[in-house]
Amino acid sequence: MRQPALTSTSSFLALASHATAARTWQMRQLFADDAQRFPRLTVDAAGLFLDYSKNRLDGRTVELLLDLARERGVERLRDAMFAGEKINLTEQRAVLHTALRMPRGKSLVVDGQDVVRDVHAVLEQIKDFTDRVRSGAWLGYTGKPITDVVNIGIGGSDLGPKMAVLALRSYSHPRLKMHFVSNVDGHDMDAALAQVNPETTLFIVASKTFTTAETMLNAGTARHWFLQSATEADLPRHFVAVSTNKQAVSAFGIDTANMFPFWDWVGGRYSVWSAIGLSLALAVGFGYFNDFLAGAHAMDEHFRTAPLEQNMPVLLAMVGFWNRQFLDAGSLSIAPYHQDLSRFPAYLQQLDMESNGKRVTRNGAVVDTPTCPVVWGECGTNAQHAYFQLLHQGTDVTPMDFITTLRATHDLAGHHDALLANCFAQSEAFMKGKTAEEARADLQALNLSADEIEALLPHKVFPGNRPSNTILMDQLTPSALGALIALYEHKTFVQGAIWDVNSFDQWGVELGKVLAKNIQAELTGSVQPERHDSSTNGLIVMAKAAQHL
Ligand code: F6P
Repeated sequence: MRQPALTSTSSFLALASHATAARTWQMRQLFADDAQRFPRLTVDAAGLFLDYSKNRLDGRTVELLLDLARERGVERLRDAMFAGEKINLTEQRAVLHTALRMPRGKSLVVDGQDVVRDVHAVLEQIKDFTDRVRSGAWLGYTGKPITDVVNIGIGGSDLGPKMAVLALRSYSHPRLKMHFVSNVDGHDMDAALAQVNPETTLFIVASKTFTTAETMLNAGTARHWFLQSATEADLPRHFVAVSTNKQAVSAFGIDTANMFPFWDWVGGRYSVWSAIGLSLALAVGFGYFNDFLAGAHAMDEHFRTAPLEQNMPVLLAMVGFWNRQFLDAGSLSIAPYHQDLSRFPAYLQQLDMESNGKRVTRNGAVVDTPTCPVVWGECGTNAQHAYFQLLHQGTDVTPMDFITTLRATHDLAGHHDALLANCFAQSEAFMKGKTAEEARADLQALNLSADEIEALLPHKVFPGNRPSNTILMDQLTPSALGALIALYEHKTFVQGAIWDVNSFDQWGVELGKVLAKNIQAELTGSVQPERHDSSTNGLIVMAKAAQHL
């Protein structure tokens, strides 16, 4: 359905007028005025708890935001996605990562095919294979069990499994060491190969298309390295593929009996639930992989059925939209207070920015508001000692998502309380700041002279009023991780619906790919580069000269 321009909708106009006053609100005051603010502006679902009370908004703001969600047809588009309609308009594809986590016995027929049945057939294949590798029954070419798994993939075929394997470190098989090679930079593959033995290494070539240049080059290099010690006949014990492209897998030389398929209705950045998660299933075992899927499914059911007022992904999305649109927040910082979530910000970068980093609407009109903010982040408490200075006292206001667990999965005394104290203190500090009066009182307590106090005072003031969300879970279990990822997937979906962009294509990555192919030919061939701008020509000439030294 053709959407009107966002800024012309009545709910947007109502929000814009509300924002004129809301922009000046102080969160300290909002908390002081409403003792019920915490219970009012928190929600739980699928084992997660979201506190969005430390944002510059009130109950009326939320009502207006939800009016906008309704007017933009979020519920209609959500239902269309779950039903398997081809909502990825530019590629004419359904968007069905939610089907990847539907329980056995359910059914969803798309183009005459029960996709849930297909999903479970591949899950069976994953179970059988991972059981054999984990138990030691799957042997390498000299009869030894597998000790190392190298996942070769990039983007969605790397970020999801790599993030999740790290996140579920404490559930991992003690014998299996997981490696991830993504970069076309040979240093990446070189570092991985230096750690593994061909006799006991399993390579997973993970690529939806099986044409991605980086992955194909890395896979070829791994194959070449392996064949220096083994023979072609040994390849099937050491190379498996995950792809939608059977022909290309076979052409590469991987036996299609060792191929784990998935489908074009799974977007790369939404594919960790599919066979792309094979490395995760190998690391944690099929039982925990199933729990991971079940956690995501619980969030899907919540997103699909909960009223918007209590719908966690919708609320997270609308608060993010509010900050982006009306507080001019150009970036969103993710702060996991859990070391095992250290790759989560990188994962979210692709999920959010590849999905909603768009400048035209689904119908091709140029958008009339800013879209996706820049997403970035690092684990707390490390981030506190690196860039939090700017977040507290810099000139830009950067909303933050704090993510942590109430309980640790280790038993080292003292650490988890210290971690949580820091996490909660930071969100409090961002919200409250420190006024000149408070800073002056601190300085007076140090017995400084009046002149010294006045000189130091401006440096000691924190403006505060800086928005953040806090997402809690009990422990970082497979199911909680599944729910967390699904929460952000659906948040991305809702924001895409508000902006009316197609969140499921990624044409923006194509231009660089094409140009890189041309330049590679120039770097390796004898043709002198002349057809670029003088900067690009100059850089190519320098690289050619250095390589021929
Ligand atoms: O070029 C971007 C992209 O298509 C991502 O969307 C995707 O996750 C990545 O490349 C890898 O693609 P593939 O799995 O087909 O190798």
